[in-house]
Amino acid sequence: MYSPVGESSVRPEQGDRGAESTGPPAVPKPHPLLVERITHADIPAICALLKKVGDGQPAGLPSELLKAWQPGPLEFTSQMEGVTYFAARREGRVLGTIGCELRHGTCHVMVLAVDPEARRQGVASALLTSATEWAKRSSAPSVWVDALARFLPVAAFLKRHGFTEAGTLHKHEFGEDIALFERVL
Ligand SMILES: CC(C)(COP(=O)(O)OP(=O)(O)OC[C@H]1O[C@@H](n2cnc3c(N)ncnc32)[C@H](O)[C@@H]1OP(=O)(O)O)[C@@H](O)C(=O)NCCC(=O)NCCS
Repeated sequence: MYSPVGESSVRPEQGDRGAESTGPPAVPKPHPLLVERITHADIPAICALLKKVGDGQPAGLPSELLKAWQPGPLEFTSQMEGVTYFAARREGRVLGTIGCELRHGTCHVMVLAVDPEARRQGVASALLTSATEWAKRSSAPSVWVDALARFLPVAAFLKRHGFTEAGTLHKHEFGEDIALFERVL
């Protein structure tokens, strides 16, 4: 069952029946998912994650788009100006990232990406929670996201988190339609 989460952990631990249990063997506790702001030391791991996520996209995406999604460490560093990035880690391994920036007083969420091997485990939800908390602390009245219109999982994910689809920019990025999503806080 889905449940929204805060900055420091993902889902309630399941199956922890305590040492005195005489029932079936306890399911091991999942390692906690930590969401924290990134530091420069995290950049190589973030870039490796973005490369993996980009390489895992279905064929047919414009090569310019894929290139933009897979920055090297120097490019990523230059894109960090004015953007707050969070990373989600489990056992020290970076599983996802998200960026947020204030634009005209509202919060633009970008670079949301989760390791394909860690999907549907609440990683993006934890990241979005941190971004939303950051937006609230920054007094942003709304959060918005632009995503490839053909990416149905992100649309489902955002709607699950209270976003509404605000429109489409047609042939906007290297010929691709971009869907806009917003959530008023
Ligand atoms: C979209 C994405 C960020 C979701 O990450 P995630 O960690 O798997 O998401 P969560 O586990 O937090 O999902 C929470 C809910 O969102 C919805 N959702 C997530 N992925 C979905 C999918 N593939 N299909 C349908 N619904 C989905 C579900 O309601 C899910 O809850 P459930 O698992 O209990 O059904 C991830 O698939 C991804 O990185 N995709 C590639 C990059 C991308 O599209 N980035 C967005 C550009 S802005």
